[in-house]
Amino acid sequence: MSEPTRNAPSSGPACARNGALYAGIDLGTSAVKVLVVDGGGSVVGRGEAGYPVDRPRPGWAEQDPETWWAAAGDACRAAITGLDPRRVAGIGVTGQMHGTVLLGADDRPVRPAIIWMDQRSTAQVAEITGGVGRDRLIALAGSPLATGFQAATVAWCRRHEPELWAKVRRVALPKDALRHRMTGEWLTDASDASGTLLLDVRERDWSSLLLAAAGIDRAYLPPVGPSTASAGTLRSDAASHLGLPAGTPVVVGAGDAPAAALGAGVIGPETLFLTISTGSQVLVPAPSPGIDAAGRLHTFCAAPGPDEAVGWYVMGASLAAGLALHWLRDRVFSLEGPEALDRMTAWAAEVPAGANGLLFVPYLLGERTPHMDPDARGTLLGLTAAHERGDLVRAVMEGVIFATRDAALALAETGAAPERIVVAGGGSRSPLWLQMIADVHGRPVTPLATVDQSAVGAALLAAAGTGERRLADLARDWPVLGTTVFPDEARHRRYADLFPIYRATYGKHQDDFATLGRVHRDGTGGQTTG
Ligand code: XUL
Repeated sequence: MSEPTRNAPSSGPACARNGALYAGIDLGTSAVKVLVVDGGGSVVGRGEAGYPVDRPRPGWAEQDPETWWAAAGDACRAAITGLDPRRVAGIGVTGQMHGTVLLGADDRPVRPAIIWMDQRSTAQVAEITGGVGRDRLIALAGSPLATGFQAATVAWCRRHEPELWAKVRRVALPKDALRHRMTGEWLTDASDASGTLLLDVRERDWSSLLLAAAGIDRAYLPPVGPSTASAGTLRSDAASHLGLPAGTPVVVGAGDAPAAALGAGVIGPETLFLTISTGSQVLVPAPSPGIDAAGRLHTFCAAPGPDEAVGWYVMGASLAAGLALHWLRDRVFSLEGPEALDRMTAWAAEVPAGANGLLFVPYLLGERTPHMDPDARGTLLGLTAAHERGDLVRAVMEGVIFATRDAALALAETGAAPERIVVAGGGSRSPLWLQMIADVHGRPVTPLATVDQSAVGAALLAAAGTGERRLADLARDWPVLGTTVFPDEARHRRYADLFPIYRATYGKHQDDFATLGRVHRDGTGGQTTG
């Protein structure tokens, strides 16, 4: 393929409603991204507004929902500029999964949101997992509990912030908090609810056992519905903030990983979907909730549900992907400006595969797949006085892709046998990273022609939910694939030699990470603990 191609059109009718537009709002970790998409799936407007992750203490990660709201307004008004807002027939919302927004009686947050990469809740993860029993928890929720997931975060807040907790009346996921402010309706969907680890993923409803273990009353949580269900219409105050007409229909939406899969047209088990964003995700849709008993992966509900598309997906998630490159840019090289990442990847492109003997394991925030260990730490192996900045950038980029390979192998062990790899996320814009994915995995990879797949997925849910066409038809027709990149045999062999070293590194240092963490936290010196 040399030109971007659209998937073959389905035999369904052409656009049911001429001229209708759909808005997809993606509440990401680093920015809100808004796309306006027409009924045929072409992106006609885009807006983005960024914000930082606040780290009040080591390992903590918070964001102010007020900042999200301001950014959503800026991004949405930018996306609709030059278009007639009255043509927007539906809005879908997606966002970062797992996080926690605690709302008081006045529906305002009682504290900043605690987001998915937060690691304060290690003790609560152990307590809840011990209480339910690890195997039973994985069988019910489809995944082990990790720090930053809502079940653990709420238990932490109840234990450490009882005065604040006493004021809490509702517990929301990030995208549901945003959408609640848009329409006043109190709802969630099974795909995002899966990420709380309070959901029974087979029943697609809250689990009484998991709620009891985390100490959350069901009354605090929203009802769980399909991702395409109506979530009411835009209230007039929200409408003027977003630059869209009051009364515009809004659908419930989905978590960002399942929304991205939909937006990329990945609705069957033949495709491995690989996303490089702040973190990386590798997922395969699954017709039944096959669960990894080893607890390395997440089996979560797909959007919108078994009636219209594949019902579940199995996912490996790594915490630091784009984040690792941003760490290098900001904290090591202190580079600023929009061209900084391009400059860094240009240095890395000059360096041969294998980064001249430098190897990086990207566990900068602990790691989920395959270790589920918040105490895991990054490793730079093989450093010499001859290494230069390009070696460092290349090693970091390669380490991020080794993590996706590790996750893909765990997926394969659960029986997934995808035939092709589709790549999305900001990282897929980098030709170097794309080639590395092909070389490390030893398979051809096809990027989407447009990035922001989660926002496309949210717009697609809005289109399906407001009657444009059937969801499966839209998911087949909308995505535009870019040019397939093929692996280079020599580089693949070199990476195949290095990958076992990458894989063995964590096991060799697991105890050291815990000791280093303790030394860092309490300054005890570390000699007395093993
Ligand atoms: C999925 C995951 C990320 C977050 C942030 O499990 O952790 O996709 O939703 O984007």
